[in-house]
This record gives sequence, C-alpha cells and structure tokens, in this order.
Amino acid sequence: MSTASASPTSPTSSSPVALVTGASRGIGLWLVTHLAAQGYKVFATVRKQADVAAAEKLGQNVTALVVELADAASVETLASKLKGQPIDLLINNAGVNGNDRSAGNLSWGEFQRVFTTNTFAPAMLAQALLPNLRLGKARKIVNVTSELGSITNATTGFSYAYNSSKSALNMITARLAKDLASEGFTVLSICPGWNKTDMGGDQAPLDPKESTKTLLATTHRLGPADSGKYIRIDGTPIPY
Ligand SMILES: NC(=O)c1ccc[n+]([C@@H]2O[C@H](COP(=O)([O-])OP(=O)(O)OC[C@H]3O[C@@H](n4cnc5c(N)ncnc54)[C@H](OP(=O)(O)O)[C@@H]3O)[C@@H](O)[C@H]2O)c1
Repeated sequence: MSTASASPTSPTSSSPVALVTGASRGIGLWLVTHLAAQGYKVFATVRKQADVAAAEKLGQNVTALVVELADAASVETLASKLKGQPIDLLINNAGVNGNDRSAGNLSWGEFQRVFTTNTFAPAMLAQALLPNLRLGKARKIVNVTSELGSITNATTGFSYAYNSSKSALNMITARLAKDLASEGFTVLSICPGWNKTDMGGDQAPLDPKESTKTLLATTHRLGPADSGKYIRIDGTPIPY
C-alpha cells in the first residue's frame, strides 16, 4: 500500500477499508482525505447530520456515518449498521480537551465528560467493531493519544481529565495489543503532535494536512511486531 496521497487512487472492490472517528474537522478530516486519496474506502464518523455532506466530499469513496461517541446506544447502532462489513483499519481519533487545569478545579462532571469520549468510547467502539476487524486483512487499530498522557513525562498546566484520559487510553491500547496478539492484530497509541486545529490552537507548529500524512505512513509501515507501542507520528517511542 502506497503511503503517498499526491495522486489519488481509485477504490476497487478489493480496496482496504478504514473507519475514522471525528471527521468533521481537524486531524480526523485530514486522515479521511488522505486515506481516500490512497484508495481506501473510508467510513467517516461525524456527530451532526449537517456535517455528512462535507465529509462525503473529502474523497470519492467516503461514506459518512452519524454517531455520538458519548452515547452507548449510538455506538451500538453504528456497529449494527456495519454488520458483516470488513474493516482493515480503525482510527479512534475523536477527542475532547478538558478545562480542569489545576487541583482545586477538578470536577466529577469534567472527568466523566472527557473520559467518556477519550477513553470509554475508543474501547467500546473497538470492541463493537472487532467482528468487522476480524473480517479485514490488516487488523489495525490506532488510538489517537497525546504525549500529555505520558506518566513518565507528566507536567503541569494541562487538564487533569485530558491527561489522565489519554494515559488510560494507552492502557486500552496495551491491553488490546496483548489480548489480540494471537490473531495478528496491530494496536497502536499514536500522538499526532501539536497541530493547528480547534483543539491545538493557532500557536501549534504542525499543519494537520502534513502531519497526518506522516501518521498514516507510520501506521501503514508498522505491523504486529509493533503492537502495543506508544509513539509519535514518526514512530519514535514515547515513555509510558
Ligand atoms: N490538535 C492537537 O495538537 C492534538 C495533540 C495531541 C493529541 N490530539 C488528539 O488528536 C485527536 C483529534 O484532535 P483535533 O485537534 O483534530 O481536535 P478537534 O479539532 O477539536 O476535533 C475533534 C473532533 O472530535 C469530534 N468529537 C469530539 N467529541 C465527540 C463525541 N463525543 N462523539 C463524536 N465525535 C466527537 C469532533 O466532532 P464535532 O465537530 O461534532 O465536535 C471533531 O470532529 C484527539 O483525540 C486529540 O486528543 C490533538
């Protein structure tokens, strides 16, 4: 599989299939765009019906599916719509930041909100789509994490809920990698780097159009022997 997305490749019936969450904007939008240009059939999830048409314009074989990842029933509905559909690559990209940046500002509600989207949803979606991934050839799951989830490199000033939700997401990666190793799965936690998106802000050094190309090149390059790794977009390791 080529990792370059400069010349679009037409999808065929044997095209690989990817599902990317959070395709309405930011990193997810570019992941879908590049995968479609690489010849993938892409299922792109968005939250709002109003975002469906724009998502389907990202590439010639993009199907947008509406799902609210913070809602268990919505995740189950998505899985039932995809019953019997092989999926080669699941990218759990959708995520939210938190506002609880210092002790004294923590709240039950903020932990619940951030963990639901950043940790619970990727785990439950991976579980719900396991039958689809088992029907696929590549059997890859990428959890889009953050260096801010590194316990070794813990720092101050960022959201407690966000940082810890990504640490916990990394444990989901580690557990899935162990549990699915005998079936040839590759499960990765990849930090996309600090990108100019609504979440990353204007000061970020990376352009998501470019950084997502590197993220995908690394995703395509790595295989079962790399499963369980917590890495940057170029594949270099981040300490857990
Ligand atoms: N940007 C960075 O510098 C950076 C750095 C490290 C890690 N990351 C990670 O990279 C991923 C993408 O970040 P981004 O910068 O592209 O963020 P973003 O611009 O804020 O976009 C977030 C995406 O997630 C979707 N989403 C959020 N909550 C959802 C939910 N409950 N159900 C379904 N979809 C939901 C949003 O949909 P709506 O449009 O409907 O809200 C949107 O498509 C996240 O996991 C983030 O933690 C980003």
